Amino acid sequence: MKLKKIIKWSGITVLVVLLLAVIMIFVAYWRSTNDCSRTLQGQLMKAVVYCEYGVVNLKVEDVEKPTPADDQILIRVRAASLNPLDGHFVRGMWLARLMGGGLRKPKNTRLGVDYGGTVEAVGKNVTQFKPGDEVFGARNGSLAQYVCAKADRAACLKPATVTFEEGATIGVAASTALQGLRNHGHVQAGQKVLINGASGGVGTFAVQIAKAMGAEVTGVCRTRNVDLVKSLGADRVIDYTKEDFTKDAQR
Ligand SMILES: NC(=O)c1ccc[n+]([C@@H]2O[C@H](COP(=O)([O-])OP(=O)(O)OC[C@H]3O[C@@H](n4cnc5c(N)ncnc54)[C@H](OP(=O)(O)O)[C@@H]3O)[C@@H](O)[C@H]2O)c1
Repeated sequence: MKLKKIIKWSGITVLVVLLLAVIMIFVAYWRSTNDCSRTLQGQLMKAVVYCEYGVVNLKVEDVEKPTPADDQILIRVRAASLNPLDGHFVRGMWLARLMGGGLRKPKNTRLGVDYGGTVEAVGKNVTQFKPGDEVFGARNGSLAQYVCAKADRAACLKPATVTFEEGATIGVAASTALQGLRNHGHVQAGQKVLINGASGGVGTFAVQIAKAMGAEVTGVCRTRNVDLVKSLGADRVIDYTKEDFTKDAQR
């Protein structure tokens, strides 16, 4: 008798919690909004904007030109690139929406993260950069004439040998590779490292970074990319269409 009561009340509690969760998601969905209807003020610039989810909703529009905060730099964007991540947000994939992208409408209406450009102005606490410096980095809304980035984490000085276009491919993919190898893998010189997906956006950086860390690098890719991965410095390349590295005796 007692057990029946417990099961009954547990069932009712679960149903109530589920109902509340559905109501909360429903309310959050309809309250989800963005800044698209706001009246523009001050200086304007052009940017790629999407007020609703969907690639068809991408437009080049006037938006407010950003002003750098004390710890930021204002960059005139010379080149910008897209990552798979940008596509996930524009298309409004549910994971992206639930991760804070905005349930019904995109919260952040601006496209792109990676950029290369020239410093136009610096905030009053910024000492690492000065106007005219050539930089690259990663900051939301990089497909625009200008972007503001935190000086200590979202911008690097661009070597003269790297073009703006090349610099604008580095941010997200290379920092993903660096975080994997350095922060999580703790790769040390002399260690053996296998890069699965060595010919991809992240993998091409991972091969080069692992080599620069002094590792012995094996890259995995398909036949047509074997030469590319070798050219990036891999000591050995496994063509996954011919060989299964999980069955290889080497580790
Ligand atoms: N790109 C970014 O900025 C970024 C940032 C964070 C996380 N990620 C994540 O990192 C992963 C890789 O992203 P990515 O942008 O580098 O992708 P990508 O450019 O599409 O590259 C995919 C890689 O996987 C390889 N591959 C495909 N099938 C394979 C198989 N059966 N066995 C071994 N390798 C295979 C491809 O080799 P072939 O082309 O030679 O077939 C290619 O090297 C994804 O999970 C992505 O979500 C990416």
